[in-house]
Amino acid sequence: MESIWTKTCRMPAFPSLTSGIEVDVAVVGGGMAGILTAYLLRDSGLSVAVFEKDEIGKGATAFTTAKITSQHGLIYAKLIKDLGREKARQYAAAQQKAISYYRNIIQQEHISCHLEEAASYLYSTTDAEQLKREEESAVALGLPASFTRRTELPFPVAGAVRFDHQAQFHPLKFLRAVASQLTVYEHAEVIRIHGHKIDICSGGELHTVRAGHIVIATHYPFVNVPGFYFLRQHQELSYLLALDSAAALSGMYYCCDPGGYTFRSFGRFTIFGGLGHRSGKLHPGDGYRRLWHHARRMYPRAAVAAHWSNEDAMPHDRIPFIGPFSIWTPHLYVATGFRKWGMTGAMTAALALSDRILGRNTDHFDIYIPQRLSLCSAMGPFLADAGRTAVHLLLQKPFVPYGKKRCVEKGFGPTCTHLGCTLSYNPADHTWDCPCHGSRFTENGKLLSGPARRSLKDI
Ligand SMILES: Cc1cc2nc3c(=O)[nH]c(=O)nc-3n(C[C@H](O)[C@H](O)[C@H](O)COP(=O)(O)OP(=O)(O)OC[C@H]3O[C@@H](n4cnc5c(N)ncnc54)[C@H](O)[C@@H]3O)c2cc1C
Ligand code: FES
Repeated sequence: MESIWTKTCRMPAFPSLTSGIEVDVAVVGGGMAGILTAYLLRDSGLSVAVFEKDEIGKGATAFTTAKITSQHGLIYAKLIKDLGREKARQYAAAQQKAISYYRNIIQQEHISCHLEEAASYLYSTTDAEQLKREEESAVALGLPASFTRRTELPFPVAGAVRFDHQAQFHPLKFLRAVASQLTVYEHAEVIRIHGHKIDICSGGELHTVRAGHIVIATHYPFVNVPGFYFLRQHQELSYLLALDSAAALSGMYYCCDPGGYTFRSFGRFTIFGGLGHRSGKLHPGDGYRRLWHHARRMYPRAAVAAHWSNEDAMPHDRIPFIGPFSIWTPHLYVATGFRKWGMTGAMTAALALSDRILGRNTDHFDIYIPQRLSLCSAMGPFLADAGRTAVHLLLQKPFVPYGKKRCVEKGFGPTCTHLGCTLSYNPADHTWDCPCHGSRFTENGKLLSGPARRSLKDI
């Protein structure tokens, strides 16, 4: 699968690991969260190394829409209601700070990555009232928000919340420039963490790395216990098209209606996406065709230059998990659950985790602490998720390799190598997707993304 970013940026190669080493900080995962965390620690006097199982920037970061914004859908009114104004302010302040950190790094390092200032719009075609509430909440938290009914979209909207001074960029050109200053090992898969020791498989050999601090920035944590992140978030998949010859937009747009769309421009391309659904939910047809059907009505002269999909982890209480991995592992940290807002999320994680590792005050990141108790906001989704997982585990049918067509018709597939849920076939990407925690496999069974760590055996 190629996104407009992978098509327009060649990434450098980094060495693999050839022997055991000792570092102060080991960062597991070479996506935006891992690379930024290592970058913010590089001048601290600590030795830092990134270990990437494949190649850097090939995970979720390669398939993002790359809007850099503190506007994360309908969130601020809900955060104030669930957690109070102080915690909601912490969320907003950290995301705004992340935007200025991107600007500063790009300026200081002279990175050419198509950074552009742009307004971000959250729109609805049906309900202006919820947007007015969101705008009032955002303003109350000090965010640069205003309500408007004017957009550049090729259809009328009921209203939109506009955030000024947000940004967009090319994520891989940025990542490439930042990573080139770091110690990175590619094709170095972390297979076990025990205490301060990390077992890494690289070039077919097993090496042990010793680290004072270990950051798990693998998008979805591959360590199940302790932490239990697989009980606290699920994954959602969306589809994207890069359209050539569609009208260019100066703003970035995101719809808060169910089944709504996302838009932004990149050079002569308009990135248009949507049709988000829980990963592994059975699909009525091909997501790209359905998206293209809508795109053609809006932009009759457009052509598709690239198409891709991406998934992200969605925490039950809508807040990323950034901080200690568990109460039993004080030297182990996690950054996950970015809810499709992992550009500012990754920068927030890098700021919070680097401060924590360097022993600085992190009270202003309290809202992100993974050990938080969010009973009110998380209990409903937690029970629904647990129920769904139980159904997919209990209603397992023996998988007979009939071929994908029969499996799709009958609604069952092979068994996921993570915790054993039954996979479903995604005809858009020709993948097997897990409805429980979102692992994805090619149709031949090769692992594409976790939390599963092994490919399928029974295909
Ligand atoms: C459709 C869609 C659109 C989005 N658009 C936006 C947007 O406009 N703005 C925004 O802010 N966010 C957006 N996001 C979210 C954003 O793309 C992600 O949250 C972000 O890229 C996650 O970065 P990451 O570093 O956590 O993960 P990744 O980029 O996936 O990096 C994790 C890395 O860890 C490696 N890894 C995994 N396991 C191991 C192991 N055992 N050992 C070593 N390495 C390992 C992987 O190979 C991978 O390279 C979007 C998400 C989706 C789904
Ligand atoms: S991803 Fe957890 S069971 Fe499949």
